[in-house]
Amino acid sequence: MDKLDWLETFELGVPEVDADHRELLAIMKKIESLADAGAFDDCGPLLDELIDFSVAHFAREEEMLVEVGYPNADIHKEYHGRLLDRARSVKDICKEIRSKDNFKDCCDEMFGFLVDDIVTGDLKFKSFLENKGLIKRP
Ligand SMILES: [Fe+2]
Ligand SMILES: [Fe+2]
Repeated sequence: MDKLDWLETFELGVPEVDADHRELLAIMKKIESLADAGAFDDCGPLLDELIDFSVAHFAREEEMLVEVGYPNADIHKEYHGRLLDRARSVKDICKEIRSKDNFKDCCDEMFGFLVDDIVTGDLKFKSFLENKGLIKRP
């Protein structure tokens, strides 16, 4: 199985957030398959799209956290900012690369920052949402 495949454990139970997370992984998979085909020039716009979509996702998520009264909404927002800074700087490096292995390594590094939100960062507010009765416990 591919490391960018959706896993049940990623599911938060907030449909809008889960849909965003699925879309993020889908964009990464698209970039990965273009890179496999050596189509680096086509990857560039998708790398930008991935950042733009992440910006939009983080904003939606931050708004939701404020709405439900999550006490660490500010901390999570700062965390998003750090992920974006790192992903953006690695993206600029990836765009210059023209060898498949190096490009894929570079993308893996960039994707890692964004996947961190899905597999680690957002788990921090899952129990808060459960305790508030906003999502069902599994
Ligand atoms: Fe998220
Ligand atoms: Fe997040």
